[in-house]
Amino acid sequence: MQHPAHPSEIIEALRESEERFRTLVQFSFDVYWETDAQHRFIRQEFADALAEQPVSELGKRRWEVPYLEPDEEAWRRHRETLDAHLPFRDFELARPTPDGGKRYVSVSGLPVFDQTGQFIGYRGVGRHVTERKRSDEALRESEARFRTFVDHATDCFVLHDEQGDVLDVNRNACESLGYSRDELIGKTALLFDLEMDAMTWQRRREQLSAGGVASLESRYRRKDGAVFPVEVRMREFCQGSRRLVISLARDITERKRAAETIREVQAELAHANRAAAMGQVAASIAHEVSQPIMAMLLNAEAALGWLDSRPPDVPAVRRTLDAILSDAERAGEVINWIRALIKKSPAPKESVDVNKAILDVLTITKSELLKHGISLQTELAAALPRVDGNRVQLQQVVLNLILNAVEAMSGLEAGTRKLAISTSTDAANAIVVAVRDNGPGLDPAMASQLFQPFITTKPEGIGMGLAICDTIIRAHGGRLSAGANEPRGALFQFTLRTP
Ligand SMILES: Nc1ncnc2c1ncn2[C@@H]1O[C@H](COP(=O)(O)OP(=O)(O)OP(=O)(O)O)[C@@H](O)[C@H]1O
Ligand SMILES: [Mg+2]
Repeated sequence: MQHPAHPSEIIEALRESEERFRTLVQFSFDVYWETDAQHRFIRQEFADALAEQPVSELGKRRWEVPYLEPDEEAWRRHRETLDAHLPFRDFELARPTPDGGKRYVSVSGLPVFDQTGQFIGYRGVGRHVTERKRSDEALRESEARFRTFVDHATDCFVLHDEQGDVLDVNRNACESLGYSRDELIGKTALLFDLEMDAMTWQRRREQLSAGGVASLESRYRRKDGAVFPVEVRMREFCQGSRRLVISLARDITERKRAAETIREVQAELAHANRAAAMGQVAASIAHEVSQPIMAMLLNAEAALGWLDSRPPDVPAVRRTLDAILSDAERAGEVINWIRALIKKSPAPKESVDVNKAILDVLTITKSELLKHGISLQTELAAALPRVDGNRVQLQQVVLNLILNAVEAMSGLEAGTRKLAISTSTDAANAIVVAVRDNGPGLDPAMASQLFQPFITTKPEGIGMGLAICDTIIRAHGGRLSAGANEPRGALFQFTLRTP
């Protein structure tokens, strides 16, 4: 059987309930409030923890206390809700603070009715949300700043999730690819990256998860089908628990075009340099070709003589015709070789016998050296490994170095001029070709820029010779260097990697 509650018990229960209510307000809200049927404040309890206790608004309506936000329209709608005696949640308003700032409060309230169903007012809570508003705004601003920065970037930014699905793109990506942002989001790079497939994505991701940045070249295709080359840099990073991949792509059409132009100009210059070098040894070339022709003439006359004798000396005719044949072959070889040197684009890579290539060059420079009273000393290593390379280009290097040496020694007394050419291998089994002269040696002031284009000390020089040599040797994976010869003169040498 239940006892009716004793009044002291009822008071005790009420006190406890009031205590619980206070604890709740203290820890959950910044303010507890009540209004009457005319929406005037009749109670306001502020949490003790509030930095500054707001002034009491008792007796006033919420919109009768100075405010900064929201606008009239929002207040009108709020008052409609109140007059309809409906509950409301998270109504945000801002009050001016004494220091000229703003305090944001978010209030929620429930209508209260008496036993007869008569509306008697509202009860509710409020939270001070200034800090949250401020950080929301800061975040929005920083996002907007970041977005502006990303959108104005001249690179395409694409953000992918782990599977490769596009999460976001910047404006440049849309413009470069010709798709809208919505068309790109949710797709994968397969849509526009011609060198991308599921396997490649997987491989790149593995590379990336090992840390660091992947740099690669690829080709992108626009929506309209146009293809352009790009340089892509990719990086993986964590956002919360998600791993994301950001890729930055730069259109390198211009750079490619410039590189192509440089290659073309270089090829032109290399060709011009070969033609000029051949011009310098024209006398030698004429000699090289006219010698077998002279021999053929003499032999042909002799053969006619053998035929005219009675009886004709057939074995002698045969011998002379054989000699004519080998002279014709020799002349033909020289002409073919010279044609290869003069030709615009030299033959592609082949297996080159370096000693043989040098001997060919010496053949056409022989009489040039003779004319200048230069004695030649060759020291070619036996059984050199062959190199993969362009024979004509390597001969161009040797020819340029020989011509430079000849020119350098022009001030010396004839008979004392010495040119030495040697081949050997170094510790790494690379071939070393050295060209030495005993001229005045290198001008120390120029030593550091010898291989730059247009560096010359000669009135007739273009200054391209060594620049071209350097480019050719680098393209063969070797190095060209210049130094002093002992006891005097210059030493130019280059290395060639062997397979
Ligand atoms: N064997 C050498 N001894 C001394 N100086 C040299 C030697 N070879 C080259 N040089 C110096 O290096 C400079 C550049 O040589 P390079 O072959 O590049 O151009 P160039 O011979 O002046 O002109 P060209 O374009 O007609 O070859 C020369 O002008 C010369 O001053
Ligand atoms: Mg030169």
